Amino acid sequence: MKRFQQLFSQNRAWAEKITRNDPDFFSRLVGQQNPDYLWIGCSDSRVPANQILGLDPGEVFVHRNIANVVAPGDLNCASVVQFAIDHLKVEHVLVGGHYGCGGVKAALDETPLGLADQWLVHVDAVKKQHLECLRVLPDEQAKHDRLCELNVIAQVQNLCKTDTVQAAWARGQFVVVHGCIYDLKNGLLKDLEVNISTAAEVESSCKAAIRKLDYGEAA
Ligand code: CO
Repeated sequence: MKRFQQLFSQNRAWAEKITRNDPDFFSRLVGQQNPDYLWIGCSDSRVPANQILGLDPGEVFVHRNIANVVAPGDLNCASVVQFAIDHLKVEHVLVGGHYGCGGVKAALDETPLGLADQWLVHVDAVKKQHLECLRVLPDEQAKHDRLCELNVIAQVQNLCKTDTVQAAWARGQFVVVHGCIYDLKNGLLKDLEVNISTAAEVESSCKAAIRKLDYGEAA
């Protein structure tokens, strides 16, 4: 209970520090949020969107789930994407994976986690789609890292196929979908060089990004 109560004193200290540095900070934000970015990332506690992007409250709209999945039919993710694009008019959507992802590892090793296994079928599908390219990699670490990368690209592709993104592009709204991956070891975010802004380039961009992984250019 004491540790839980401590969160409130930490919160007060945080709010006081922000107000000291910028007295109008909260009154500016209270009116409306106007973020340029939507981040779709993993729930992993080590990968907090705002901190790793160096962004303040109000600057990034966030959706997180285990293994940063954009699952067809997931109303939660679809609603976040729709609100962010149609109402907040975010211009950049980042699917952010990370190395050392427990969800990806469980899908790769087929380690049972319980209920979460039902969610991880989406990552398992990515694994099955790329079995050949994973098989030739020298060790488990390389396979894990590659599946983390392939999963990001697959989720970028899923996102691009959503009704919301397709409709935004069809009416000429500027929206770019990006794939990137975070390294827990050094805190750095790597661009997987899949940056898509039209419906026509979805397949070719994703394929090109996967080819770059195969040749080690982006690895
Ligand atoms: Co993860």
